[in-house]
Amino acid sequence: MAAGRIIMSRIRKGSRVWSGAERLAAAARVTVPHEGDYFTVAPRALFDRQAPLEIELGAGRGDFIIARAAAYPERNFLAVELAGTIAQLMAIRAGRAGATNLRVVRMDARPLVHLMLPAASVAAYHVYFPDPWPKERHVKHRLFTPVFAAGLIRTLAPDGRLFVATDVAAYAEGIFATLLAAGFVRAESAVPGAELTGFAMKFRAQGRAVHAGAFRVDR
Ligand SMILES: C[S@@+](CC[C@H](N)C(=O)[O-])C[C@H]1O[C@@H](n2cnc3c(N)ncnc32)[C@H](O)[C@@H]1O
Repeated sequence: MAAGRIIMSRIRKGSRVWSGAERLAAAARVTVPHEGDYFTVAPRALFDRQAPLEIELGAGRGDFIIARAAAYPERNFLAVELAGTIAQLMAIRAGRAGATNLRVVRMDARPLVHLMLPAASVAAYHVYFPDPWPKERHVKHRLFTPVFAAGLIRTLAPDGRLFVATDVAAYAEGIFATLLAAGFVRAESAVPGAELTGFAMKFRAQGRAVHAGAFRVDR
């Protein structure tokens, strides 16, 4: 297919996700509203109640977080996704699933963790199959850096957990080393999304190895 036709087909696909009354109503039930240039997140303002908050960063189509929110109705969940069309698709799915304890926000996970979340406000972070950005000139797009690890530590509750999984062995090694250097230690917990996200299911079906770790902060 010529490049022009591929682009037109993507534009048509994207515009379908953003149209249709039922789709928009489903997404509106769970999308975090925001106006203007600046956006801060006060977890207590997102939900009608106070409850432990779990956040998935780069949640994709939401396979994991939607199922987890249904399985743990006593907890609050925030799904963060950078790509607009994917975030909208996840919001439609979550709204259709009737999730009341899950909110979807389209944004870069980094400013959220660096700046926007209050200290000690997160019970668990889930980061599954973050884009590895293998080319040297793209390394700056990677999620896991010492600054990002410091932001995770700042925002995790005292007994909070960070769950990570990736199919890229070298990236796993780099992520785990960055976390340990920042002050995380390994936790004995299972990694709930390592088998349940959309990418986890796809990679496992292909027989690919998954490298997963659970971490807590050594305070
Ligand atoms: C490989 S997919 C994995 C999706 C999902 N976690 C799973 O395991 O099925 C990575 C996702 O992270 C999103 N993403 C990449 N960089 C991000 C960032 N800085 N903030 C939020 N989401 C991001 C991408 O748009 C993509 O949907």
